Amino acid sequence: MTETNGRAPAALELEGITKAFGGLVAVADVSLRVFEHERRAVIGPNGAGKTTLFHLISGELPVTSGRIRLFGEDITRLPAPQRVGRGLRRTYQITNIFPRLTVFENVMLAAQGLSPRKFNLLWPVPRRGPLAERVERALVDVDLAGKADVPARELSHGEQRQLELALALVGEPRVLLLDEPAAGLSAAERAHMAELVRQLPPTLTLVIIEHDMDLVLNLVDRVTCLYNGRVVADETPTTIRHNRTVQEIYLGVG
Ligand SMILES: Nc1ncnc2c1ncn2[C@@H]1O[C@H](COP(=O)(O)OP(=O)(O)O)[C@@H](O)[C@H]1O
Ligand SMILES: [Mg+2]
Repeated sequence: MTETNGRAPAALELEGITKAFGGLVAVADVSLRVFEHERRAVIGPNGAGKTTLFHLISGELPVTSGRIRLFGEDITRLPAPQRVGRGLRRTYQITNIFPRLTVFENVMLAAQGLSPRKFNLLWPVPRRGPLAERVERALVDVDLAGKADVPARELSHGEQRQLELALALVGEPRVLLLDEPAAGLSAAERAHMAELVRQLPPTLTLVIIEHDMDLVLNLVDRVTCLYNGRVVADETPTTIRHNRTVQEIYLGVG
């Protein structure tokens, strides 16, 4: 059994996770524990191993060694779709939407767990019913309710990132992994995205990768800093600002 200190098991627990690509160790002996309803940031410079860590948690890549637990259950060898079935969702650093489909259709496909090749199975797209209501709610959560019928390709870059957030939210995840949701956005779009993340349901357990410390520090309860695949700090947003190692890493990489 997982050690819980009398509390509920952690929502997400990594125990000595390592991922090697040949000779390159991208993630090195990473342990961390994210409690239910916690908001956690994973920061660190490019190449630190942040995205690889998400691939391991989501099951898109197998770990080289270590254990992963979701709500106390060992999911280390569980295929990715079964992890989704247990309430785990993620977004991607790179845009992953279908440009010719409308905003509503994109989210409906995600709600039904269909690939775009199966889009015709969905025809006509249901505009009523419980699934459509979930799609509408997700669009409200990401501030895109007014753009439901707009083809995704006509959205601004910031709106496309909002749409991606909706794709993950519509599955009503218990644990949500966000990989640099504000990457490539203008300052105004970044602030908007931060506000959307802040307003996500408080019951959601959130892990957010972000390169920019300032954006994320007032969104989360705790921060893990990765460097060369290793955890070099795991503390509160207040104390991590003063962590010498973290300061040096961030100054060092500009
Ligand atoms: N599929 C892969 N094959 C080989 N090396 C990889 C692969 N994916 C990531 N890497 C390497 O692992 C390291 C960590 O990458 P990544 O997890 O993308 O870092 P971050 O998201 O923190 O920028 C980098 O050196 C990267 O080049
Ligand atoms: Mg990355």
